Amino acid sequence: MSLLWKKASYAEKYSKNYFFPDPDIRFFIKKLKISKKDFVGDFGCGDGAFLSAAAKKASFVFGVDMSSSQLRAARKKMKSKNFKFFKRNFSDLANLPFFNKGFARKSLHHLKFSEKKKFFKKISEKMPKGSIFVIEDGIFFLFSRKELKKNWGNLMKDCRKYYGKEWEKKKKDVIYCFKKEYPCGLSEWRKALSAGGFVIKEAKKYSSFYGYMLAVKEK
Ligand SMILES: C[S@@+](CC[C@H](N)C(=O)[O-])C[C@H]1O[C@@H](n2cnc3c(N)ncnc32)[C@H](O)[C@@H]1O
Repeated sequence: MSLLWKKASYAEKYSKNYFFPDPDIRFFIKKLKISKKDFVGDFGCGDGAFLSAAAKKASFVFGVDMSSSQLRAARKKMKSKNFKFFKRNFSDLANLPFFNKGFARKSLHHLKFSEKKKFFKKISEKMPKGSIFVIEDGIFFLFSRKELKKNWGNLMKDCRKYYGKEWEKKKKDVIYCFKKEYPCGLSEWRKALSAGGFVIKEAKKYSSFYGYMLAVKEK
């Protein structure tokens, strides 16, 4: 799926169908307590909706994304000068700036479990103790990734309830994501985050398969 993001048409379709609503952006800026003392990194920053808002509150922000078209859109959105974008794959995170607030929405599920572990280990080198990382993504709150097949029926029921009228339109993408990408169980996210010294302090479910986590770097 990652390769699809290199296609401008795919990125455009995505940004239209799954855009990041402004109230949610404000919610996460508050959750991260972003202030002028902060350096913020957004991983899989997409079209820059979050970063352009965060830049107004932070000292400096940066975004990492492998898609040129997403980064082009993101650059256009920036109204200030305190930002930088890195066209990178998550497997290549050398020479990033230091930062103390991290964010990733709908992006880290592209990584397999072993890749998630490597990712958190690598970024933690750039984050001081006490740093915060917030992730909104596919989180199976009731089972692990290995138990996906066994729980498929209930998962589909929960999807129908969560997406409501939008379900038929989104079904194909969502099922693709469950089957071919790597959303995983809360306990697997916990293990992956702990590879970077992060401890989950808050995990909120919007549905049994989706929500956010706030983790603090304790080591
Ligand atoms: C579903 S979009 C989410 C964009 C944005 N965070 C949002 O919430 O609107 C996922 C983003 O992650 C990026 N992405 C996916 N896999 C990646 C990888 N392995 N390395 C870097 N970026 C990746 C894609 O290019 C895309 O912009």
